[in-house]
Amino acid sequence: MDRKAFLAQLGLGSSAIFAATCMQACSKSETNTNTPTAVDFTLDLNNAANASLKNPGGFIIFQGLIVAQTTSGSYLAVSAACPHEQVNVEYQGAKNQFYCPRHSSYFTSTGSFISGPANGKGLVQYKTSLNGNSLRVYA
Ligand code: FES
Repeated sequence: MDRKAFLAQLGLGSSAIFAATCMQACSKSETNTNTPTAVDFTLDLNNAANASLKNPGGFIIFQGLIVAQTTSGSYLAVSAACPHEQVNVEYQGAKNQFYCPRHSSYFTSTGSFISGPANGKGLVQYKTSLNGNSLRVYA
């Protein structure tokens, strides 16, 4: 029995097999399961673990978010997981944008998609508020 006859016996055409395979693959790439929801934490900028945030262009990854200081001294926070395959993005201070090192997707400073395999999906933006050396990040 050849492949076509076998599929016909099962009642499945090749298009049904293709559709099932595509639906599984497509749904995986369209859902960013690592996007934090209830976000509200404060970072102590005097803590050594947060030292990068004292430098313009510096950033840290914390609780699923990337927090960065722009070259003009303000702070940004967006979800860290690239919508394509969940790799943590990086901040490029000189261009004021986020970049995925895995397959080169680019996002604006507010998390909007610019280009790359993330295919139109952006990062979630969070609010920041600086009070002395305490940086609050919240939804
Ligand atoms: S994982 Fe980010 S572009 Fe592929």
